[in-house]
Amino acid sequence: MEERMVSAEIQEIDHSIEQSIRPHNLSQYIGQEKVKRNLEVFIEAAKLREESLDHVLLYGPPGLGKTTLSAIIATEMGVQMRTTSGPAIERPGDLAAILTALEPGDVLFIDEIHRLNRMVEEVLYPAMEDFCLDIVIGKGPTARSVRLELPPFTLVGATTRAGMLSAPLRDRFGVLARLEYYTEQDLAVIVERTAEIFAVELHPLAAEEIARRSRGTPRIANRLLRRVRDFAQVQGDGTITPDLAQSALGKLQVDRLGLDHIDHKLLKGMIEKFRGGPVGLETISATIGEEADTIEDVYEPYLLQIGFLQRTPRGRLVTPLCYQHFQLEVPKS
Ligand code: ADE
Repeated sequence: MEERMVSAEIQEIDHSIEQSIRPHNLSQYIGQEKVKRNLEVFIEAAKLREESLDHVLLYGPPGLGKTTLSAIIATEMGVQMRTTSGPAIERPGDLAAILTALEPGDVLFIDEIHRLNRMVEEVLYPAMEDFCLDIVIGKGPTARSVRLELPPFTLVGATTRAGMLSAPLRDRFGVLARLEYYTEQDLAVIVERTAEIFAVELHPLAAEEIARRSRGTPRIANRLLRRVRDFAQVQGDGTITPDLAQSALGKLQVDRLGLDHIDHKLLKGMIEKFRGGPVGLETISATIGEEADTIEDVYEPYLLQIGFLQRTPRGRLVTPLCYQHFQLEVPKS
């Protein structure tokens, strides 16, 4: 995938900075009010009953705070979080090793849970349901199954693709929480909070400008803030004024809706080569040289959200709103 300023995917170098600016408890967590209010109740109830919290599935586009929320759940429950991911658990034995090392009540965070393989999933079912592991010892006619007790734990699964989860796995989560794109107001508060942690002066209008161009995504908002801060320190006096933010964001090639050169390539490719569609995902993929999965998971969700693209049974369609953004005339047919 091409490097992009507005990528919502995690980029390795950002990890330590991301840690320092993450909210640590629910009261510091901005936005996602519905999810937050419900989680507050479920956490308090579990604590009252002195039980582990029921398993939680967090789903939604990348960069909206699924890992952060999982860490907050662990903190609020007063337990440890262990982190792994669907593709990292290759064999049932890998999962067994993780599960048997858990302390009572721990949160086990599995990112990209839709990428667990079938054999591993089968081991996960009894673990989630009855906190036990069924291990087969030996092979052939002498093979026997041994049941191992596990400590009670909370599985927090995260996915950008809830639809790709198998039904039996989805059904074993007691809490299903869908994260939504953040409002500009929430994103402005988030960048103001981050600016305070960085001890950088940020004008409220500059915060709004960054928020507007962050595709509803805190991870992008915080990254844009860091880059704008670079311009403020090198080319200004360190203060992020509205003018400086405008000019820096222009240099970063992030347009006023947060679209970058890849979004432009995708949308303009559809307009110029296919009169705006409808055109199939695979065709778009071949035309712009990006994988179909990447287009579907990473680029497209925000373009659908802001109403620039529509999905139809015959393929993707560019909307009149998008033509207006590019100051182009909408074709008659
Ligand atoms: N940083 C990233 N996401 C955040 C959120 N939802 N609330 C506060 N700070 C954040």
